[in-house]
Amino acid sequence: MLYIGVDLGTSAVKLLLMDGSGRIHKVVSREYPLYFPHPAWSEQNPEDWFTASMDGMKELTSECDKSQVAGISFGGQMHGLVTLDQADEVIRPAILWNDGRSEKETDYLNQTIGKEKLSAYTANIAFTGFTAPKILWMKRNEPENFARICRIMLPKDYLAYRLSGSFCTDYSDASGMLLLDVAHKCWSEEMMELCGITRKQLPDLYESYEVVGNLKEELAKELGFSQDVKIIAGAGDNAAAAVGTGTVGEGCCNISLGTSGTIFISSESFKVDCNNALHSFDHADGHFHLMGCMLSAASCNKWWMEEILKTKEFSREQEGIVKLGENHVFYLPYLMGERSPHNDPRARACFIGMTMDTSREEMTQAVLEGVVYGLRDSLEVARSLGIRIDRTKICGGGAKSPLWKKMVANIMNVKVDVVENEEGPALGGAILAAVGCKEYPDVKTAADSIVKVTETIEPDGELTEKYEKQYSKFRQMYPALKAVFQNLGEIGRASCR
Ligand code: XUL
Repeated sequence: MLYIGVDLGTSAVKLLLMDGSGRIHKVVSREYPLYFPHPAWSEQNPEDWFTASMDGMKELTSECDKSQVAGISFGGQMHGLVTLDQADEVIRPAILWNDGRSEKETDYLNQTIGKEKLSAYTANIAFTGFTAPKILWMKRNEPENFARICRIMLPKDYLAYRLSGSFCTDYSDASGMLLLDVAHKCWSEEMMELCGITRKQLPDLYESYEVVGNLKEELAKELGFSQDVKIIAGAGDNAAAAVGTGTVGEGCCNISLGTSGTIFISSESFKVDCNNALHSFDHADGHFHLMGCMLSAASCNKWWMEEILKTKEFSREQEGIVKLGENHVFYLPYLMGERSPHNDPRARACFIGMTMDTSREEMTQAVLEGVVYGLRDSLEVARSLGIRIDRTKICGGGAKSPLWKKMVANIMNVKVDVVENEEGPALGGAILAAVGCKEYPDVKTAADSIVKVTETIEPDGELTEKYEKQYSKFRQMYPALKAVFQNLGEIGRASCR
């Protein structure tokens, strides 16, 4: 049988077709616009997700025996607020994971309600990108829209709803709403009350590998699929990526260098970081994970290459970078503010340390290194909790760069296991679909049999030492600039990409 994994990303949807043995037949993608209508806002139109996914599924299955398609599942950008009214109309554009508008509501939750209470209710504290502060923002700023809300859902759940009619979500993605009691896997009464919403407005909860419904008859016809294609709940993109890289079981690590950058640590038991710098979420395998998320990772490099250097030659720009561990230029990667570990929507990106002889290559190198230093900040939090991480998987667009992977190995001092297929969330989605359709007994068995490590990048002692010194300099920069960032106030520009 054939399984479709849909990775509903921020710049594009990626779709992957896999058979029951785990062989990947085809991958296609479709881009859609991302809107920044005000400084710090980040929005998308849910209809674009649906149209692009349907269109992509047609191309994906154009050469296969369509009657063999058995299941569809997802890895979706997390935290986005999608609201539907009584007539199932989308009320306003989705407010995305990297949207910083809910600063006041986040402060209200963390300071007035208090981090201890939030952590007791949900295992997490508020961040501007999380869903609950955005609901509060809508309540305060768009009361007429708020009054129309009939259903609240996450981006990939909007797709599942359009495809199957089932109003559902999964525990991994629901964890990022700040509405779920992560430890007990149920909606938090206290958080619903705080946000002024009711249980009826929230989706039903499923494990990521559970069937939520069947593909609607008219859509099955349009796609040429059989009438009993199953829709499987799926997961937040990081949990799906973890499945797609085999990061399941106790103490495994995955780093994603996508638009966002994440460090994901799987765990068989519920754990919480006492300072809540790392998120404590449910995993797609039925267990748990800790995660640090930086808001701009590969997007820093994309911005630097495309917006500033005006080039698309990403690998050519990296060819001249040879002097690792000695760069006198540093880059702070906070283009959209920062989530983990600083929780500071006002943080901004900057270059530090340029001199008259600074070259283009050194600045590009600084961008790549700055992202890894940012991830190392989260790794240090995990290490401070006594979690030992000496190897990691890696995925995301940035993982295609050999240089960036080498930086990860040496800046973090970990072995980097490169998997055969770096399509993390899309492959994870397809694996979840296969498990949902009973091709495998559970997520771990499926991931263990499908995911293969093809290469391991070992850290080099001398280089690690050099990077250790560099990282200690980087570490001083954000605290030194924090007050400066606060005083910059709201900056940014209204634009549309
Ligand atoms: C995770 C997060 C991002 C998005 C990106 O907490 O906000 O990784 O899921 O799609």
